[in-house]
Amino acid sequence: MLPRNATRFLAAVAAAAGLASASCSSYASYSQYRHEPYSTGAYALSYQRPEPACRTFNSTAVEDGILRIKNLTTDPDLFRLFENTYPNTIDTAIKWRGFAANNSEEELAFIITGDIDAMWIRDSANQVAPYRSVLKNKDDDLASLFRGAINMQARYLILSPYCNAFLPPPEANLNAQPNGAVYSVTPPYDRNVVFTCNFELDDFGAFLQLSHDYYTRTGDVDFFGKFQWIHAVQSILSASEALRKPTYAPNGEWMPPAYTFQSQTMTAFGTLGNNGMSYPVNETGMVRAPFRPSDDAAIYDFQIPANMMLSRYLESTAGIMEKLPNAPKGLAREMRDMAEGIRAGIEQFGVVTAPNGQRIFAYEVDGFGGQNLMDDANIPSLLSAPSLGYLDANDTVYQNTRRFVLSRSNPWWCQGPVINAVGSPHIKPGAAWPMAAIMRAMTSDDDDEIINSIWEVLQSTDQYGLIHESVNSFDATKWTRSWFGWGNAVFGQLIMELAERKPELLKESFQPRHRDLRQEHRN
Ligand SMILES: *[C@@H]1O[C@H](CO)[C@@H](O)[C@H](O)[C@H]1NC(C)=O
Ligand SMILES: *[C@@H]1O[C@H](CO)[C@@H](O)[C@H](O)[C@H]1NC(C)=O
Ligand SMILES: *[C@@H]1O[C@H](CO)[C@@H](O)[C@H](O)[C@H]1NC(C)=O
Ligand SMILES: *[C@@H]1O[C@H](CO)[C@@H](O)[C@H](O)[C@H]1NC(C)=O
Ligand SMILES: *[C@@H]1O[C@H](CO)[C@@H](O)[C@H](O)[C@H]1NC(C)=O
Repeated sequence: MLPRNATRFLAAVAAAAGLASASCSSYASYSQYRHEPYSTGAYALSYQRPEPACRTFNSTAVEDGILRIKNLTTDPDLFRLFENTYPNTIDTAIKWRGFAANNSEEELAFIITGDIDAMWIRDSANQVAPYRSVLKNKDDDLASLFRGAINMQARYLILSPYCNAFLPPPEANLNAQPNGAVYSVTPPYDRNVVFTCNFELDDFGAFLQLSHDYYTRTGDVDFFGKFQWIHAVQSILSASEALRKPTYAPNGEWMPPAYTFQSQTMTAFGTLGNNGMSYPVNETGMVRAPFRPSDDAAIYDFQIPANMMLSRYLESTAGIMEKLPNAPKGLAREMRDMAEGIRAGIEQFGVVTAPNGQRIFAYEVDGFGGQNLMDDANIPSLLSAPSLGYLDANDTVYQNTRRFVLSRSNPWWCQGPVINAVGSPHIKPGAAWPMAAIMRAMTSDDDDEIINSIWEVLQSTDQYGLIHESVNSFDATKWTRSWFGWGNAVFGQLIMELAERKPELLKESFQPRHRDLRQEHRN
């Protein structure tokens, strides 16, 4: 989820810039040290919340949620990991909040990913989303954060729908540092607004999902008619429509794609082949996703999980659009038509035969028969399909796909004594992503599988008590990213969901002795 060749440099810049006031140390460095008191279980996890004066947003709803989970859990390490991760977004990532210069009622929030000082559309949506469980109405403190994120993303999606990460708005006066990397991108964009412009289709899904979450929790339909939300959805629809076009017209003539991207990079996944145009595609009804939710270039452009996400949330948010008196006539219908067209494309082109003869979802296809069988830890993934609300977990094709993804047949399955989870070409083979273990638990109804996934996450933090991006499946001391906002958010979300779905599991012990006993019992 970040340009990997730039990671170290950017982390250094973020650390030097500091996050909060001078007396608060930057969380980029704070998260690289362990802080007492350690949790009292075998994993002795660090306490990682910044001191109250250094937190970037305060919410009584989140603090109450933490107390509620404290009551529900018995394992000190499990509670510690939750207590560090669930508030991580509000503790560390709300870099600025305010109002639009041209509308004093339009709330804005600039939310950084963690160690990189820019706002990713997908990350910021996923960083805020877990707070939906404690969001009750539009007057809550958190409601303003949701609205600020949605309005900020709407502005970005209108200005540059194909870009994925952005600099602070002028209203913030934050002295934004434009990205110095060398890119050649069409359509062109403003380097004072955009940080990176890798087009990732799941950004559209993420914006619509956050909108859906805010609407379903608060019922605040008026908000969507007031500012730029309708215009942002129109921008998403026209950008998507342009990228549904096949490479060749009906008469066979080549049609250059609406979006191209080339960059000077050491990595094949950091730029697009064919002079920035990527592999040709046939017409399928799906929308091209030249970059994956990891920020890596796709092999084939029709990424199935991102299309699932877009289809599901276009359908859901069409229900909001319908209720807006000022929405252009037919816009909700257009959203539903696209959602249906994408779904039909997934069913026709995205379901393929695996080497074992079972029907599974491919990760990517091109509409010509080209297919890439794998899954990647970054969400949306194939594993996450039920969590996206695209299908039910008991769907046969999903269950076949799940067995494939969680097995040695998936080229990005990382197995070992520390953690068994899906990884990503964004790092390297053998580097499992705790986020994928978390998603496995979120999409499972099997108590043992859920408990085991949580165990693996607990023992993968190297005692830092935060979710790392990736962890060597044989060596917990080898990991990437000390401050990974998205990963922290997803763990918090899992525990909040389990508190509703299976509260008895939170009473379990996750200490190593219990783990051995449980496994003996199973064998
Ligand atoms: C959060 O509350 C603390 C006091 O508990 C305060 O020092 C801090 O400034 C507050 N943060 C924000 C962003 O309001
Ligand atoms: C925690 O549990 C105690 C005892 O059951 C109860 O009185 C208290 O209200 C609970 N606190 C929260 C925050 O749920
Ligand atoms: C307000 O300003 C933003 C960016 O500065 C712009 O995108 C938007 O269109 C403006 N809104 C209106 C209603 O003029
Ligand atoms: C690709 O598109 C061409 C032109 O529409 C069509 O003839 C061909 O059957 C398509 N291929 C597949 C695999 O659908
Ligand atoms: C799948 O689950 C849904 C409810 O979640 C249920 O209505 C449906 O009957 C189930 N289908 C199968 C094949 O078990």
